[in-house]
Amino acid sequence: MTPSELVCYEPACRARYPVDEVIYNCPRCGGLLEAVHDFSALDPAYARRLWRERRLSNAPLDRSGVWRYRELLPFLDDPARQTVTLCEGNTPLLDAPRAARYAGLDRLVFKHQGFNPTGSFKDNGMTAGASQARKLGMRRVACVSTGNTSASMAAYAAAGDLQPIIFIPHGNISYGKLAQALEYGAITFQVEANFDQILKLVRDLAERLGIYLLNSINPFRIEGQKSIIIEMMDQRDWSPPDWIVVPGGNLGNVSAFGKALRELVELGFLPRSPRLAVIQAEGAAPFYDFMKDPRPGRFVPVPHPETLATAIKIGDPVSWPKAWDAITATGGLVAKVSEQEIADAKAQIGLCGIGCEPASAATLAGLRNLVASGAIPSDADVVAVLTGNVLKDPDYIYRYHTRDLKGPGGAALVSTFANTPVVVPNDPDSISRLLNSEK
Ligand code: F0G
Repeated sequence: MTPSELVCYEPACRARYPVDEVIYNCPRCGGLLEAVHDFSALDPAYARRLWRERRLSNAPLDRSGVWRYRELLPFLDDPARQTVTLCEGNTPLLDAPRAARYAGLDRLVFKHQGFNPTGSFKDNGMTAGASQARKLGMRRVACVSTGNTSASMAAYAAAGDLQPIIFIPHGNISYGKLAQALEYGAITFQVEANFDQILKLVRDLAERLGIYLLNSINPFRIEGQKSIIIEMMDQRDWSPPDWIVVPGGNLGNVSAFGKALRELVELGFLPRSPRLAVIQAEGAAPFYDFMKDPRPGRFVPVPHPETLATAIKIGDPVSWPKAWDAITATGGLVAKVSEQEIADAKAQIGLCGIGCEPASAATLAGLRNLVASGAIPSDADVVAVLTGNVLKDPDYIYRYHTRDLKGPGGAALVSTFANTPVVVPNDPDSISRLLNSEK
């Protein structure tokens, strides 16, 4: 028996279901589901010490930056047998003075989820979702993805002896990500539709064929992604920052962050909650629009989302009710940024020697605007979460640095920080002349 159950997230329903029921929405009212745990036996002081000691251990579960904190995600009944782990998490906090100056902040720290085994924060959630799939005895797992989820799911399914089936918008995901999914053995469908449309298709197929759905609507993915916050707080010796900034697409990540912060404060791990800031791309910003005047039932999807930051090119985010609560409960905010702002912020993160994918750079672009408008003071203690690795969209990077990057509508973007490669003859004299003129 685990101390966990699934509970409907709708306040008017709150129906409860056993944790091993294969459901993704409340069968009674259709609401989102949340995994809820009995933490009454958990002593924060003891847990903090235990988690520190596990950093010295060589046991696979202790080395994982997700399962090290397994007391806060206690839904497996036989972790040693059920867990699928690739040593995920363990992602660094990186000081980035140059990016801080760009944002107008005294100091800025990035938590870089791109250091994960498949290159994005999805691994934190996927280890949990794939483990639950094994616990349930599922054979096949499926997801729709703009890239990172599919690479992550394919890897964890392969490692856990499950058959991955991925659905991606045809022509709209990066080759690097597609390559990972193929290499990890995923059955791969390229569908002529956008993310939101394909999610509906996959949900239908999962139901019909008994395939386990591993999109972030799956509550166990959210449980795994809580560890991004738990690990961040452990790395900061349980001293919360003022702000945590994260890009928003399907809004699973901010929902997980909100749940983690709620639990950590309620259980006494943290004295107060940091505020959450979600940044969307302006061509795919339904949550930003909603939060200007939030009212139940008033969420209006964007039918044709557009942004070069394909990871957040989502117009109908399923987790918006949880994200709404995460923003409200933490006194947070939602902002949107332009393609130009994302492109330039991304180049600045690169110049820190860090780098990230376009969606992740929305954090720095958003921060810069929020500091300029006074919404975030320049001396605030801020952690921005870089969700994916710099290698995801090499084509975008090359075009930016060769002044050939065009926005979704075809308008040219300005390569403010271009670093164009130079073609030279195989001749030391001319190369020397060039380098000397550079001095
Ligand atoms: N950043 C990156 C790098 C992502 O891959 C995603 C989502 C997000 C941010 C947005 O996170 O959806 O939880 O708000 N990528 C999904 C995918 C949709 O299919 O890989 P969210």
